[in-house]
Amino acid sequence: NDKILKDFLAKDKAAELGGGTRKIEKQHQAGRMTARERIETLLDKGTFVEFDKFVTHRCTNYHMQQEKIPGDGIVSGYGKVDGRPVYVYAYDFTVFGGSLSLTNAGKIVKVQTMALKNGAPIIALNDSGGARIQEGVDSLTGYANIFFQNTIASGVIPQISAILGPCAGGACYSPALTDFIFMVNEKSHMFVTGPDVVKAVTHEEVSKEELGGAYTHNSKSGVAHFLGNSEEEVLMGIRELLSFLPSNNLEDAPARPAVDDVRREDERLTDLIPSDPNVPYDVKELIESVADDNYFYEIMPHFAKNVVIGFVRMGGRTAGIVANQPAFLAGVLDIDASDKAARFIRFCDCFNIPIITLEDVPGFLPGCTQEHNGIIRHGAKIVYAYIEATVPKITLILRKAYGGAYIVMSSKQTGSDVNLAYPMAEIAVMGAQGAINILYRNADDDRKAKELEEYAANFANPYQAAEKGYIDEIILPRQTRFKLIQALEMTQSKLRTNPHKKHGNMPL
Ligand code: COA
Repeated sequence: NDKILKDFLAKDKAAELGGGTRKIEKQHQAGRMTARERIETLLDKGTFVEFDKFVTHRCTNYHMQQEKIPGDGIVSGYGKVDGRPVYVYAYDFTVFGGSLSLTNAGKIVKVQTMALKNGAPIIALNDSGGARIQEGVDSLTGYANIFFQNTIASGVIPQISAILGPCAGGACYSPALTDFIFMVNEKSHMFVTGPDVVKAVTHEEVSKEELGGAYTHNSKSGVAHFLGNSEEEVLMGIRELLSFLPSNNLEDAPARPAVDDVRREDERLTDLIPSDPNVPYDVKELIESVADDNYFYEIMPHFAKNVVIGFVRMGGRTAGIVANQPAFLAGVLDIDASDKAARFIRFCDCFNIPIITLEDVPGFLPGCTQEHNGIIRHGAKIVYAYIEATVPKITLILRKAYGGAYIVMSSKQTGSDVNLAYPMAEIAVMGAQGAINILYRNADDDRKAKELEEYAANFANPYQAAEKGYIDEIILPRQTRFKLIQALEMTQSKLRTNPHKKHGNMPL
């Protein structure tokens, strides 16, 4: 038996070398980790269990039968993050450039299926030259199998993608189907067609960084959610993201013992919001003030900065934040902000995470660009997502809540559970100046000034809404943390289901 065991150990060790030491060195020289190093960094130490280490491809085109490498360019299996099970797979660039074969796609589908069956998150570490050219349509079939599993698992288990090298063509659509995409600055690229094809077809000259680098997808396209400066930063970011999430849609997010006093007040909030509605402030200061340990895990910080989304813990429990950001474009809602907020609201709803909406919004952004690109269709996503969401929904109006934007930002009648407002809140069809310019268009300046004062007195406050019960409680800014936690506790056991249907027809 000694010989058999020795033989096995030698084979096992050889399989772990992937494409061999020369290719591993090349990977390191490019400033990248190998697939196994990435998995080791991501998971709790010593918890990784690898599947299918000896799987090889079955392709015979281009004499491929003579080139077989155990594992076939995918390292896959399961392990733990903070003691909780997760499934993981990593493309091994040292083996045929991490290209996808029908066989290694089968390895991916195996862990996807197990993750779904056992209700645990799945993490994909991408670094691949795309479909294995020698396999032709077989490797394309492999992608289709992966996309199928991504879609079926959507909303059942969290799916997270990291792009740690190239990701081109069809390969982009698996990450795109997952919940969150992480990218590494200057080391990772995603595009449907690379710079050479772009040049040939559209005559545009563009670098791969500009076309599909991490900053581009984090700031311009909204494809990616997180930007790391190194692979380590990305892998640690994934661990942290998981700490806010339940393992599947039947669980609640893990609760931590709350060390931060739930009744903690913050006097600075009294003056954070300027009384002049045209003066900006940073809503993140408010979010950090009210969150446990003043900690806000922001998602998509570089994209559509006029809306801020992310996770906090409140009294130890995860909550999703959707906030207008008066410090950027006055917090107006536009197409990108609508897409960003709506997708996040739906994620929270999938995974039983209550949503806190912090509102200070002058309205939707006017103009031909917005109208012609479909602000009506995109803006509709926010209201659809809020109404459809059955998780607890708490809204706090900080200052401006005007017009259509007031309605869509989780107003009472769209199914919000608790609606709070600061005494400085202005809940109206529009701001005072705009209203008087319409109602008293032909009046002289004196009359306009008088009417402006009267409108401000009548509408630039929360009392009309409070008198009608559209606002449940007007609160002091310094008590914000406690008031939000009270509302979250009160709604914790909320039970609500929408009518049975195959699925709705959300405007996309
Ligand atoms: N199929 C088969 N093998 C592939 C491959 C693919 N799609 N992509 C890369 N490889 C192989 C290369 O032939 C090379 O093999 P070798 O080491 O035996 O010579 C190895 O992977 C590394 O690739 P290389 O091109 O040397 O690496 P690079 O870092 O210079 O470039 C890419 C990486 C991804 C930009 C480049 O390989 C590429 O453009 N690949 C094709 C991408 C594509 O169009 N895929 C199909 C779209 S779905």
